[in-house]
Amino acid sequence: MAGNTDLHAAARAKKDEFYTQLSDIELELRNYKPFFRDKIVFCNCDDPYESNFFKYFALNFNALKLKKLIATCYNGSPVSGNELMLDFGDEIKEPQKTAYKVEITEVKDENGDGAINLSDVQYLLKNDKNVITILKGNGDFRSDECVELLKQSDIVVTNPPFSLFREYVAQLDFYNKDFIIMGNTNTLVCKEVFRMFMKDRIRTGYTHFNTGMFFYVPDSFEKYHHMENGKKMARVSTSCWYTNLPVKKHMEELVLYKHYTPEEYPKYDNYDAIEVKTYTDIPCDYYGVMGVPITFLDKYNPTQFEIIWQASGNTYANAPKDLLQALGFNPNIKYGGGLGTPVLNGKATYTRVLIRRRTQSIPYTQEESQMSMAAEPSEDNK
Ligand SMILES: C[S@@+](CC[C@H](N)C(=O)[O-])C[C@H]1O[C@@H](n2cnc3c(N)ncnc32)[C@H](O)[C@@H]1O
Repeated sequence: MAGNTDLHAAARAKKDEFYTQLSDIELELRNYKPFFRDKIVFCNCDDPYESNFFKYFALNFNALKLKKLIATCYNGSPVSGNELMLDFGDEIKEPQKTAYKVEITEVKDENGDGAINLSDVQYLLKNDKNVITILKGNGDFRSDECVELLKQSDIVVTNPPFSLFREYVAQLDFYNKDFIIMGNTNTLVCKEVFRMFMKDRIRTGYTHFNTGMFFYVPDSFEKYHHMENGKKMARVSTSCWYTNLPVKKHMEELVLYKHYTPEEYPKYDNYDAIEVKTYTDIPCDYYGVMGVPITFLDKYNPTQFEIIWQASGNTYANAPKDLLQALGFNPNIKYGGGLGTPVLNGKATYTRVLIRRRTQSIPYTQEESQMSMAAEPSEDNK
């Protein structure tokens, strides 16, 4: 009989098997086209036979002017070697339950039809012996050989396993890699991710914040939303994109039109900060600390606002004492939600991001403004 640990591991692995639709990838990635030129893209949680990330980059290899595409496949995937999401036809068999990498440096129009399509990629995988290599280990993104590939690469793009998201993003941050990855809005409040927001080392992407997305799931899943082309689809209401590349909305100033009154913006019982129920209500004439809902992070422009801290039960234990003191935190006031949750008129609120207006907009650094200029599509990039 399976022990509790086995059951938990199986439940975790199941949560990780949500496969991204090509249309969702296209919708987000079309915003970053100039950033891919001459770059090595690494999809490190992507079995090329299942992943639409691999498919997207293989098919757009020339259009994006990529230098190299690397994809590694993890052999712990319950679907690896079992269910092919991408139809490469019968002639080419996916290596069975082995971890392997695919490295592509050139995609030619092999069938001469004037376009790069799946049959050209299929031809490439089948005929070029240098393209597919069996890995020594299991293809875990944390393994030495995958970390070596990470070091060589410029941009990491994937939907990583949800259960390992914090570790995943911390690794990208540690190796200082550009990334465009899928995640879950629930992870915004994790201390690792939130600290990256505070340092402006991560931001939300262009599409799908708080709208929900559909993913392919393995045939073995009993719970799913609907069938599409014979595949089970499940909805995740909290999925979103995260990146450290420039995103236009995070460079635009929020237009603030409301004026501060103590009646409309009461102070918390336990913090020297005012409650702002929604980011659209941020008063234009208040320069003290304000508590706003977590969704503010999707609009956060670090030149307009400064993130001071996350007021929640989770973060209290890690809060620097002098910061709590500066925030006028009163540890004697607690009402559900754990010590650290903002309390308003004796009631706990939801987790809040504590922010402050910058008195003067800080211009983006030279590097960032160059990147933002690069983000404007030039004629040959359209
Ligand atoms: C959310 S799925 C997404 C798959 C693919 N990137 C996509 O978007 O369609 C995450 C994938 O990561 C794989 N995975 C799980 N643990 C992993 C690990 N430690 N290292 C690399 N990949 C892992 C899972 O088996 C699964 O295929």
